[in-house]
Amino acid sequence: MTTASSPIESVLVENRVFPAPAEFAAKARISGMEQYQALCAEAERDYEGFWARLARENVVWSKPFTEVLDSSNPPFFRWFADGELNASANCLDKHMGTAVEHKTAIIFEADGGEVTKVSYRELLDRVSQFANALKAQGVQKGDRVLIYMPMTIEGVVAMQACARLGATHSVVFGGFSAKAVQERIVDVGAVAVITSNYQMRGGKELPLKAIVDDALALGGCEGVRHVFVYERTATACAMVQGRDKTFGEILAGQSTDCAPVAVGAEHPLFILYTSGSTGKPKGVQHCTGGYVLWAKQTMEWTFDVRPEDVFWCTADIGWITGHTYVAYGPLAAGATQIVFEGVPTFPHAGRFWQMIERHGCSIFYTAPTAIRSLIKAADSDQAVHPSNWNLSSLRLLGSVGEPINPEAWMWYYKNVGGERCPIVDTFWQTENGGHVISPMPGATPLVPGSCTLPLPGIKAAIVDETGHELPDGAGGLLVISKPWPSMIRNIWGDPERFKKSYFPAELGGQIYLAGDGAVRSEDRGYFRITGRIDDVLNVSGHRMGTMEIESALVAKTDLVAEAAVVGRPDDLTGEAICAFVVLKRGRPSGEEARQIAKELRDWVAKEIGPIAKPKDIRFGDNLPKTRSGKIMRRLLRSIAKGEAITQDTSTLENPAILDQLAQAN
Ligand code: PRX
Repeated sequence: MTTASSPIESVLVENRVFPAPAEFAAKARISGMEQYQALCAEAERDYEGFWARLARENVVWSKPFTEVLDSSNPPFFRWFADGELNASANCLDKHMGTAVEHKTAIIFEADGGEVTKVSYRELLDRVSQFANALKAQGVQKGDRVLIYMPMTIEGVVAMQACARLGATHSVVFGGFSAKAVQERIVDVGAVAVITSNYQMRGGKELPLKAIVDDALALGGCEGVRHVFVYERTATACAMVQGRDKTFGEILAGQSTDCAPVAVGAEHPLFILYTSGSTGKPKGVQHCTGGYVLWAKQTMEWTFDVRPEDVFWCTADIGWITGHTYVAYGPLAAGATQIVFEGVPTFPHAGRFWQMIERHGCSIFYTAPTAIRSLIKAADSDQAVHPSNWNLSSLRLLGSVGEPINPEAWMWYYKNVGGERCPIVDTFWQTENGGHVISPMPGATPLVPGSCTLPLPGIKAAIVDETGHELPDGAGGLLVISKPWPSMIRNIWGDPERFKKSYFPAELGGQIYLAGDGAVRSEDRGYFRITGRIDDVLNVSGHRMGTMEIESALVAKTDLVAEAAVVGRPDDLTGEAICAFVVLKRGRPSGEEARQIAKELRDWVAKEIGPIAKPKDIRFGDNLPKTRSGKIMRRLLRSIAKGEAITQDTSTLENPAILDQLAQAN
């Protein structure tokens, strides 16, 4: 474990502190630091009692739990284990007969701008009907269903319908390749795939079903009995008789009543794949009870969501943010939310601001990369600057997925939030289920670039490599020292990797290792995330494993002898992927090098997905290695950054390679 530095090097030093606006605080659930501290103290005094109270207040249980935390087999912690519930009933059924029933649940804006709205009642009917359709096709509790869908109401319906039946969904982001889809189908043991003929992004019709066909053709997917196809566009796609059916076919004649299946609190609600330090993505397994609890509670604490809010989380349902803050949290909280199919730059880079005005969005939650790209666009074209739209409906802004540099924070604060909206910089991970470190917008004084303080009940700390807590000001490893209800339960099918990755023996085997470096400020004890401590990159807020990309490159066996992948800071995407490649045929130059680089990028897009394409590819005769043959990645990181090598290179077997790689481009 080594500590890395922050990917974006901030030029702006912003020392101002932004207190919670009085108007916001006056109405907020947590309306001052005393209240925040009182909640933390409650958790401190009676940890299980605190969580039991939240679980009773936030979750509708079909069978109440009697046991809170079961720590008998660490790190396989269990919460509320003898309780039963249904996640979909907690998002939909519970609102029936209340003021929420006929409220708009989703305002859907398509890529082309068409708007469709559904109420909670209508959404429940659609989820129930789809669940009945799945049931009629043989999908049942405990089955795994892979979802490969665009950002649409149907995508949310598919997830909720699986939850309604107790089937475990595994959503794969629509930008992943056939190979990535196939690997996930095999690993999760899917019995069905829910997809769409095409998806619309930036005015283009892109295939999804054809990618599923390719994935299934790669083999090992014999368990998949069905492919259900949502006809998003009028263009036909190839259908395999017997295996493939359209939504229209399976929904025909199905009732809109479907009793939710009660499952145990620990029943896996979903498995979501994310990158780790090895070549193989990890299937992060989440439970039902603790997850639903935290999805709803964080909507109320971090976003302070109110009945009149229009909430918009721009994340895709293929990522954890889209699970917790699109598919589950807003619905569990009874909020009206915007679901957007398209991209922020189509038909112009003012799309987000236009949509905020159009739909009266009041809480807006996006990623720093999106903000940075929209800053750039607004700098070069005044017509897409946020000042062209009326953003007065906004009252709260959020940031997620990567560190937000103070420059971007200040721009967001001034130009989008009109200096009146607090910004919640929410730190969390796929494995966490929901926010773990974030300001409480009605209470916490904000410091740009800091995610501030842990949520009540979350025991975040910074420790050294032996697990000893470090004083404020000293950088170290971010850990969460007590189990909490929405934490990862397992890596699907790989409990050993689960233990090793998150609960390493060096730290005592019971505390959760986040995989990020962090430092607490000496004045306020605020957390600042300094970047991953493992071989995971964060490119545009997307988590990518360097080993995964290396494996993809060396799988191009006709060309590649060896490859090493590192990250370097990038002003727009946070980090950029740099690949150092040794070809079997020797080092190319000029036009040949450009051609091969293109071929390799396309290959990586095919193996993993376009998001994994290396930005830089440098060819060398060799890679810098120690005498024992270990690639010296820290040197490659310096070269990728364009830095002079100041590290000790005495153990290097082939020092001349450094100059060659530094010059290669
Ligand atoms: O490095 C941290 C970064 O994103 C990683 C988690 O990625 P993922 O599992 O894809 O989940 C992203 C969305 C929840 C973390 O290990 N990260 C996430 N949020 C922040 C962040 N880094 C700094 N500040 C944040 N607010």
